[in-house]
Amino acid sequence: MSKYVGILTAGGDSPGLNAAIRGVGKAALGAYGMQVIGFRDGFRGLMQDRTMRLSGGELSGILTLGGTILGTSRDKPNKMPVGSQTMDMTEVIVDTYNRHNLDALVCLGGGGTQKNAYHLQQHGLNVITLPKTIDNDVAMTDATFGFDTALGIATEAIDRLHSTAHSHHRIIVVEVMGHNAGWLALGAGIAGGADVILMPEIDYDIDVVAEAINQRRRRGGSFSIVAVSEGAYSITDRALYKKARKRLKKAKKAEDEKEMEKAAAKLAGVELQLQDKTLHLSRQLEQLTGLVSRTTILGHLQRGGTPSAADRLLATRLGTACAGLINQNVFGVMVAARGSDTVPVPLEDVVGKRKTVPLDHDWIQTARDIGVCLGDR
Ligand code: F6P
Repeated sequence: MSKYVGILTAGGDSPGLNAAIRGVGKAALGAYGMQVIGFRDGFRGLMQDRTMRLSGGELSGILTLGGTILGTSRDKPNKMPVGSQTMDMTEVIVDTYNRHNLDALVCLGGGGTQKNAYHLQQHGLNVITLPKTIDNDVAMTDATFGFDTALGIATEAIDRLHSTAHSHHRIIVVEVMGHNAGWLALGAGIAGGADVILMPEIDYDIDVVAEAINQRRRRGGSFSIVAVSEGAYSITDRALYKKARKRLKKAKKAEDEKEMEKAAAKLAGVELQLQDKTLHLSRQLEQLTGLVSRTTILGHLQRGGTPSAADRLLATRLGTACAGLINQNVFGVMVAARGSDTVPVPLEDVVGKRKTVPLDHDWIQTARDIGVCLGDR
């Protein structure tokens, strides 16, 4: 009996999603004779039963496309905004799954999607996931698709910023995506030849960064490139943020309504202030070095456009392996990349973990060895 497979993409989009949909779909249809249906806009589309046929033609010509033909959203099954409320729509999703007589649901996403898929698995669905995100921070896999493309884009940006920084003898601070992990900033910073790389894993001392730039100037380098993750914090900002969060937590524990209100307002103020932390860094560097500093925020540019060859290959490998696992009735797993292999990893081993850059990682040592300042002493 042929199997029925549903597929959705959730979380932020990532180059390689279409290659993965194509990989799962072609192998499922062609190699295993399954039937495949797409759900639009992540878990929201599954809740609303908004589908897209994936019966062959739709899978052609999408390998090189950025984004996702299915659309995506950050909605969670158990915390779905519905009107002005947030509701647990798990049962509605389970109904859709059953109505389509699905044998498996493939969820393509990052850390949040792994967690949401695991939640559905615990409600009886046969789920199987693939790891995507440009941040490369999904646990238990060597790589996520999307990262290589974003790495290329960020590296090219840093390359291009060199000539303008050089011509004007300026500092250019370039903000790279990565809220919690510094893979992109570190990788692109090394590959693009940044002089300073700041990342969430290493809180930086602004005086150390300024001194590195001043030293470089004394040696004749009239410009500097600072690659910074959006999630990098200075030591002082981190302390400020932690203190505000701790205050709110304490107030909640004490069930002190008045203090809770004050602490929440304080935290909101700190968060607002920290939204501009890269611009603030740039201004501080101007003051401390006397050089002019400009800021470039790469933002969603890093997620857009055609996937690199490496991401197409990875997404296709993971996608076809996924179809093979469904054929063998292996569920409740994420298909991970391990060296030249693909391996199923139980979702409970993935969920709740994040792959940040280990402080003893080879890339960190490499950066230090070539004299890159990482903001610490
Ligand atoms: O996909 C992960 C990521 O790229 C993060 O690096 C970034 O902070 C986030 O998505 C922003 O995404 P959005 O603007 O879509 O919420």
